[in-house]
Amino acid sequence: DKGNHRHFMQKEIYEQPEVIGHTLGAYVDLTTGRSRVPVGQDLSFSNVRRIAISACGTGFYAGLMGRYFFERYARIACDLDVASEFRYRESPLDDVDLALFVSQSGETADTLASLRYAKEQGLATAAVVNVQESTIARESRYVLPTLAGPEIGVASTKAFTCQLTALAALSVRAGVERGVLDGAAELELTRALAEAPRLVNEALKLEDAVEKLARDMATHRHALFLGRGFSFPIALEGALKLKELSYIHAEGYAAGELKHGPIALIDETMPVVVIAPHDRVFEKTVSNMQEVAARGGKIVLVTDASGAAAKAVGAHSTIVLPDMPEIVAPIAYAVILQMLAYHTAVQMGTDVDQPRNLAKSVTVE
Ligand code: M6R
Repeated sequence: DKGNHRHFMQKEIYEQPEVIGHTLGAYVDLTTGRSRVPVGQDLSFSNVRRIAISACGTGFYAGLMGRYFFERYARIACDLDVASEFRYRESPLDDVDLALFVSQSGETADTLASLRYAKEQGLATAAVVNVQESTIARESRYVLPTLAGPEIGVASTKAFTCQLTALAALSVRAGVERGVLDGAAELELTRALAEAPRLVNEALKLEDAVEKLARDMATHRHALFLGRGFSFPIALEGALKLKELSYIHAEGYAAGELKHGPIALIDETMPVVVIAPHDRVFEKTVSNMQEVAARGGKIVLVTDASGAAAKAVGAHSTIVLPDMPEIVAPIAYAVILQMLAYHTAVQMGTDVDQPRNLAKSVTVE
């Protein structure tokens, strides 16, 4: 049932404040602010120094975000692979303490094959998974649920932001267990995460402005998405959403990579979506924006109030979110890019809930 919404995807985008709240509740005691592993899981990070993450598609981008979180907040080194490569890469796994898989459906063949491979190699396995009765959930040693509820739209939305929520909170738990974060740092981070539902609501309020951008986006055949640091995985996911839904050719890049090749694509007809909250790497991203602006590229800047006040280059259009703590920003910014892809697709008349050639769960390798 789509309720008042035109598509399941739109409904699922709007469910996010609620389901992110549910997911967070599994990883944080919201009365004390203490992080925890979900009930019934005896997973401890005390002796985890290296995690090997694998997943596919949107799950892979959540995994990339997980890498940034675990490295920043828990000082745990992370390897990351698309699941279809992990198994064949013959990477030495001797110093890997945990193999972590991210999957909405829990049935993706490539991810399942990687999980089985990791078990054969004698690794401890954990899965961040949305469907609790799935094969991946059954076969993993530790099950780390996302509580997004059933996701019908083929393009993943709420499952992704719930994956980010779970991974962020877990990285805080890991940081505490490893002695990287003290009690005060833990509370500051979990309080920031507890703001996620409200901040996603703030993002949803920008739908009209995003729809306007989408009308312009729909006139283009190509687009670039740039982000640095915590915004890099979000840029990649934003590009995937746009290409899946609207069939516009979209590429996500680390903002710093622009000058190493993709800058050759920039002219007046190239929209460049820049994800740039006013964080520790903002100034660097602004220099990359200047490179785009100097070549006439059409910049769509997604930033916060401080970023909008500070930015030195003229963007073609700007979406302004409230200032927010770094750990929670990826979740809110992802929602803007979901709405951009959604409205571009609606504008172009493509099948939003069932994009061509795609299936909700990919059960062949
Ligand atoms: O169910 P999974 O999370 O394992 O699925 C992985 C990918 O197939 C999936 O994320 C796919 O990329 C979606 N269409 C993204 O919107």
